[in-house]
Amino acid sequence: MTIGTRKLGTTGPEVSLIGLGAMGMSDLYGQADEAESIATLHAAFDAGLTLVDTADFYGAGANELLIARALKERRRDEIVLSVKFGSRRTPDGGFQPVPYDVSPAAVKDRLAYSLRRLNTDYIDIYRPARLNPDIPVEETVGALEEMRQAGFIRHIGLSEVGARTLRRAAAVAPISDLQIEYSLLSRGPETSIIPALRELGIGLTAYGVLSRGLLSGHWTAARHLDAGDFRAHSPRFQGENLRANLRLVEALGRVAERLGATTGQVAIAWVAAQGDDIVPLIGARRRERLAESLGVVDLVLDAGSRAEIEAAVPAGSAAGERYAAPLMATLDSER
Ligand SMILES: NC(=O)c1ccc[n+]([C@@H]2O[C@H](COP(=O)([O-])OP(=O)(O)OC[C@H]3O[C@@H](n4cnc5c(N)ncnc54)[C@H](OP(=O)(O)O)[C@@H]3O)[C@@H](O)[C@H]2O)c1
Repeated sequence: MTIGTRKLGTTGPEVSLIGLGAMGMSDLYGQADEAESIATLHAAFDAGLTLVDTADFYGAGANELLIARALKERRRDEIVLSVKFGSRRTPDGGFQPVPYDVSPAAVKDRLAYSLRRLNTDYIDIYRPARLNPDIPVEETVGALEEMRQAGFIRHIGLSEVGARTLRRAAAVAPISDLQIEYSLLSRGPETSIIPALRELGIGLTAYGVLSRGLLSGHWTAARHLDAGDFRAHSPRFQGENLRANLRLVEALGRVAERLGATTGQVAIAWVAAQGDDIVPLIGARRRERLAESLGVVDLVLDAGSRAEIEAAVPAGSAAGERYAAPLMATLDSER
């Protein structure tokens, strides 16, 4: 098994066909095991996965420190680090309400801390996790461009912004990729965002390709969720919504069986098959889950299989929004 590579946009870096999202190793998905997380990072690097996504606010810095531990045993130039900033935490582990802190001063301040925690002198892709509607995107991207020119970051990325904002940002500086939720259950980007990305030569790193575990085939309605787990508050994981969504997953499971793959592999492979400008991020935090995800490398979906998959989980069939209402309201991509 060899993981292929994809280039992020016309100006971005070349990265592995799939990237690893490290969020769940420190935050939001219940208890994680630190030693297993480090082992998973190494297993990913050993398998040829080069892109790792994190944020300074995942575990309030703990996620960056975790990645730094794994990086100590690696050549820095073999790993592409994608780091987000802008969300603010509270001492009890919560998140502060909006606005996101993406002022030019915050860009430099947050970057200084991330470089230190990651024990590196540059970040490959640096991006605001969300925008602040009171701060023009030109100002945030302008500060990022200053940091790029100074060599502290190699590329500028964005996250969860819509087509109009993409165009404004791209007029200020080269943008490598947009990180956005994209899966069989979240097909919103197809309407105007993906066409804009292609027009502008910007890549897409897709998160939530398993809809935060829902599409993995491992989720059950009986699974207990701690209050701090994102999914305890996610509309798609509640009551009747969850039951309806699991019926879609069952249908997807039947297609996967015919293809000789697991449900999760088919969900990841479907995202990867939407274009060679798209890189799915997988949220594996255990080696077992990573190994399953890496199985997509050998899974080629022809047009017939893709049609079967889309018939099992039709566009727009998800029950419930992808975020609770207050968080949906912060998404420039949903305007
Ligand atoms: N830009 C943004 O706004 C944003 C938002 C969210 C996430 N992200 C980034 O995207 C990354 C991925 O997002 P996500 O974690 O929500 O994605 P995801 O891959 O849709 O969901 C991950 C969840 O699925 C479970 N899972 C079950 N089977 C799996 C398998 N075979 N492979 C991988 N995971 C499996 C995971 O592990 P367990 O079974 O161990 O629970 C975890 O709970 C994050 O780590 C983060 O870096 C970005």
